[in-house]
Amino acid sequence: MTNPIEKKFRNMDHKERLEFIKNKTKLDDKEIALFNNTSIFNFDEINDMVENAIGVFQIPLGIANNFVVNGKEYLIPMAIEEPSVIAASSNAAKIAKKAGGFKAKADKSIMTGQIQLVSFGSSSSSTNTDKLIKTIMENKPKLIKLANTKSKFARCIDIQARQINDESANNLGPMIIIEIYVDTKDAMGANIVNTMCEVTAPEIEALTDGQVILKILSNYSTNRLVRCKGIFPKESIGGDRVLKRILFSYAFAYSDTYRAVTHNKGIMNGIDSVAIATGQDFRAIEAGCHAYACRDGQYRSLTKWYENSNGDLVGEIEIPLAVGIVGGITNTHPLVKACIKMLDISSSQELATIIAAVGLAQNFSAIRALSDEGIQKGHMKLHSKNIVKMAGGWGGRGEGGEGGASNEQIEEVSQQMINEGNISVSRAKEIIESMNKTNKQHDNYHI
Ligand code: MEV
Repeated sequence: MTNPIEKKFRNMDHKERLEFIKNKTKLDDKEIALFNNTSIFNFDEINDMVENAIGVFQIPLGIANNFVVNGKEYLIPMAIEEPSVIAASSNAAKIAKKAGGFKAKADKSIMTGQIQLVSFGSSSSSTNTDKLIKTIMENKPKLIKLANTKSKFARCIDIQARQINDESANNLGPMIIIEIYVDTKDAMGANIVNTMCEVTAPEIEALTDGQVILKILSNYSTNRLVRCKGIFPKESIGGDRVLKRILFSYAFAYSDTYRAVTHNKGIMNGIDSVAIATGQDFRAIEAGCHAYACRDGQYRSLTKWYENSNGDLVGEIEIPLAVGIVGGITNTHPLVKACIKMLDISSSQELATIIAAVGLAQNFSAIRALSDEGIQKGHMKLHSKNIVKMAGGWGGRGEGGEGGASNEQIEEVSQQMINEGNISVSRAKEIIESMNKTNKQHDNYHI
């Protein structure tokens, strides 16, 4: 066998890659073995998905319940490592359900592809760009036809062109941006849009005597918006006092960017978790949503909150959401496939409505808690349990928890630390030690 060190990493098999990492790093055998477990995949499958694969990275998958969107009940898979997010979504959905659940509507799946045209003809004057834009527009049917040769399903439905000017310090002058609009149906559509951009680019160059630089989709999918609304009855949220406080928290997020970023981060907790579980490009969703949050020039809340004439709280969200139920890993990743099937959805628009509802629900729970008792109480419970697990040192009794401790024992230590207001590994160790001693005495007594 070739010495793995001499081989290029990408040409190594799994064993050689792990051997290589072991030699290059301080990881011990136990740690290296963590990469050996590829879970539901075999190594070739993950190696086909990404380059230089060494293993799989797992995060918890949970279910948000109580969701009713447009009159239909859903069990919603959420993949996330952060505690409280799934419970928060489920609780919010339970409250919204009392008023009929969420109402949502998603636009058609129209994606935008951009083709950047520069150095056209002998001059880049605005008369020249006007003329070229006219030429492109006159050839629209031909360009659309050309784009549509690339797919039987997705359809290029329109093309527009506009001039922009280099606003950077390089001062490269005007350029023409040709935008193709593609109905990608049930796919997110990145691949087909990029392909259509690439196939039309040479024709655009020929028509204009220009030079195409970039040809790529835009992740700012403002023709693919989803809107969702939920009503949260006043009596279920802590009455008028809490409602007013929630409106103040919204005012804060609407008016102050520092707060808006955190407020929207909470929304993305929900959106990303469903996006990950259903195999979406969550980076694209994030980028689009954050750009949309600044559409009027200031970064603001992605949700809107107000009181209706009944005195109930109403929440609304409007975001660009490019999601698909075909293509990408939705066809290949077994867990993603199962999560999509669990949702029992028939279109990418339906998925978008669910994701928007989870984002809204998540935001409701966060600002409700923040406006009232704060979020640390709930967080502390989970945090405290994790601290107990980290402390370890159990005497080997019990069955479920860490190091032989039962879940009840973990709960007991965790609760004691919360009551004492001292959540730390050292305190957990002391309590565990005293519990171990008591248990030993108990055992001796029985002998
Ligand atoms: C934490 O992941 C999310 C929150 O900070 C969101 C918010 O502040 O609205 C609780």
